[in-house]
Amino acid sequence: MKNQFNLSHLVRENVKAMKAYSSARDEFTSSHDNLTFLDANESPFDNNFNRYPDPYQLELKEELASLKSVSATQLMLGNGSDEVLDLIFRAFCEPHQNQVITMPPTYGMYQVLANLNAVEVVNVNLTEGFQINTSAVLDEITSATKLIFISSPNNPSGNVMQINSIKLLLEQFKGLVVIDEAYIDFSSTSSFISELQIYDNLIVTQTFSKALGHAAIRLGVCFAHPSIINVLEKIKPPYNVNQLTQKKALEVIKNYDTVNFQVKITTSERQLLAKQFNEVSFIKQVFPSDANFLLCRVDDANKRYQQLIDLGVIVRNRTQEVGCENCLRISVGTPEQNKKLMLILNQLDQ
Ligand SMILES: Cc1ncc(COP(=O)(O)O)c(C=O)c1O
Repeated sequence: MKNQFNLSHLVRENVKAMKAYSSARDEFTSSHDNLTFLDANESPFDNNFNRYPDPYQLELKEELASLKSVSATQLMLGNGSDEVLDLIFRAFCEPHQNQVITMPPTYGMYQVLANLNAVEVVNVNLTEGFQINTSAVLDEITSATKLIFISSPNNPSGNVMQINSIKLLLEQFKGLVVIDEAYIDFSSTSSFISELQIYDNLIVTQTFSKALGHAAIRLGVCFAHPSIINVLEKIKPPYNVNQLTQKKALEVIKNYDTVNFQVKITTSERQLLAKQFNEVSFIKQVFPSDANFLLCRVDDANKRYQQLIDLGVIVRNRTQEVGCENCLRISVGTPEQNKKLMLILNQLDQ
C-alpha cells in the first residue's frame, strides 16, 4: 500500500518561503578561459586554492551518480553525514512543534541534532535482538511526526534491520524515513538506494568515513527524490564541501579497488574476531555484525574497558546504552592490530 506522500506538507514554512543564497558563481558561469573574475571578492593571486569551490560539486556528483547507479539530481553532499542529518532536521522539522522517532540503542547524533533543533524525540527501543519494533513505531506516529531514523547496519549493535519492517514503515508513514547506511559497504545486504524509485519518502545517507576510508575529509552523501534534494540544496551553506575534499573524493572513487580490497579484509577479519571472541571466557555474547565493528557482552564492561586502556587498547564502552548492559563495541582493525587485541584479551584475568 502506497502512503499519500506530499512533500510540500513536510517542508517548514520558512524554508518554503525563503530564497536560497545566490553566490557569484550562481549569477555567472561560463566555460570560457579568457575571463577576468572580479565578482567574488576572492584573492586574485593564483595558488590553486584562491577561488571558491564548486558549490554544487557537479564533477563529484556525476562520478558518484555513476558509481551508485542513480541520477546526479538524486544526490546532495554534506560536510560528513552529520551535516546532511542536521540539514534534514532544519528543512523539515518545525522547532517546538514536530517530533522524530529514533530507535535506541542507535547512533547518538539523531538525539543531539534533535536537541539542537528543538525537536522532540520519541524513542521506540529496538527489540532484544536489535530489530525494529514495527507495531510500536506505528503506534507512536502522530500528525507531529516528521522523520523516522533507522540506522542499518545499526550502530552500536552492528546488525541490519529486517527489510520488511523498513518497507512497512515506508509504506505506512506519511513523513520521511531516513535510513542511515554509514556501514552498508560491510554488509551483504543491498542498499535501499535501489528503492528510491519506489518510495518518494525515502532518504538514504552514506559516508566516506567508514569503508571508503576517509573520515578526515568529512564527506557525507544523501540520496533521495530530486524534490527532497532541491530542498536540502536550497538551505545548505553554499560552499559546504571544500575543494580539497572534492578532489580527494574523486581520487577515492577512481581507486575503488582499494576500497573493495579493504572491505574484503575487514569483513573476513570481523568473522575471525567473532570466532576468537567466542573463545574468551569473560565474553558472554558476540552479536552478529554487518558493520566494521563487533558488539560484545562481557562479564563487567567497566572493568574490562579500563583493563584494555591500561594495556593500550581503546574500545567503546556502551554499557549505558539501552539493551547494551555490559557491552563493549570493538572496531575491526588491521590483521596486526587484531592479533595484538587477541593477545591482550587472552592475557586478561578470566
Ligand atoms: C550510524 C552512523 N551514521 C553516521 C555517522 C557519521 O558519519 P560522518 O562521519 O559521515 O559524519 C556515524 C559515525 O560513527 C555512524 O555510526
